[in-house]
Amino acid sequence: MPPLQPETSTRKRGTSATATLAAGIRAHHWQWNKSPIFADDCAIDMVSFFWRLIVKNKPLNWLVVHKLLGAFHPIHTEIILRTRYAEDCLMEAISKGVGQYVILGAGLDTFSLRHKKLAARVRIFELDHPATQAMKRERVRRANGDIPPNLAFVPIDFETDRLNEALSRADFDSQDPAFFSWLGTTYYLTKDAIRETLGCVADAAAPGSRIVFDYKLPKHLIPERGLPLADNLDRFVARLGEPMVSEFTPEELNGEMARIGFVEMETLPPEAQARRYLKNRPDVVDPAPNFSFALFGDPIPESKCEPSG
Ligand SMILES: C[S@@+](CC[C@H](N)C(=O)[O-])C[C@H]1O[C@@H](n2cnc3c(N)ncnc32)[C@H](O)[C@@H]1O
Repeated sequence: MPPLQPETSTRKRGTSATATLAAGIRAHHWQWNKSPIFADDCAIDMVSFFWRLIVKNKPLNWLVVHKLLGAFHPIHTEIILRTRYAEDCLMEAISKGVGQYVILGAGLDTFSLRHKKLAARVRIFELDHPATQAMKRERVRRANGDIPPNLAFVPIDFETDRLNEALSRADFDSQDPAFFSWLGTTYYLTKDAIRETLGCVADAAAPGSRIVFDYKLPKHLIPERGLPLADNLDRFVARLGEPMVSEFTPEELNGEMARIGFVEMETLPPEAQARRYLKNRPDVVDPAPNFSFALFGDPIPESKCEPSG
């Protein structure tokens, strides 16, 4: 494989503000929703002191989440639903015996803390930029006392490093099927980095592996009424130093995935996300119109499924 392009990463080298925001939204959802769609009771321990205040303190919570970030409520829904969807798919994979979970762009994900009972069955690999990962490691220690024994932190810059090499250094078993998630991250990366990383997933993943991620849809696939929100979000994250630079049509993405040998198992555009998770939920606004979820599988070769003779 040719070397990846040099430092073209679109994010600044500090810790990820969008990772903190996403965890803050999950913490807020858990704190204030009587029947949470995604029950992340550990997110509150992962966020900054400032976010803990926002989540817990009613007047501050009103000011920040409802007044300042009020226009972004459909994005909050997207954050909650993408994690719920990914973990629904993950749990199905685990129930079928998958014992490795690779979280790309993990940010302040709390799966390892919420599912300690799975420690003997599932090894977890969290991959993230070193700066954000150092903050995460510190917060896990603070909340949990130590690092869960089944959790490995694997630093990576998707723009410059190869995922399969990083994973092999972390003792990932390429002979054993794995479940990969890549949430809230693809759109911050260049298309070259996304292609290279997906290619490395294909190299590292044993047959029977799966990957779930969300991706940004181009404007022509967004209903007109959703365009102001999409533009606002573009400006908001760019101001945080994490501009969104990549988007795909479902057809383009399916083509990319087919090229590396993954088959589409499911695609959930925003309206399908709402149909699946928001029935009879007038308390939760519809998800943002500009992100789709997708689940792909690395098929088990037929010869392995159905031995001839
Ligand atoms: C919006 S956060 C999503 C975090 C988490 N997956 C979630 O859904 O809450 C984006 C994550 O991508 C990571 N990221 C962005 N660019 C990266 C890069 N070039 N290399 C490694 N990680 C990167 C950030 O550090 C951050 O943790």
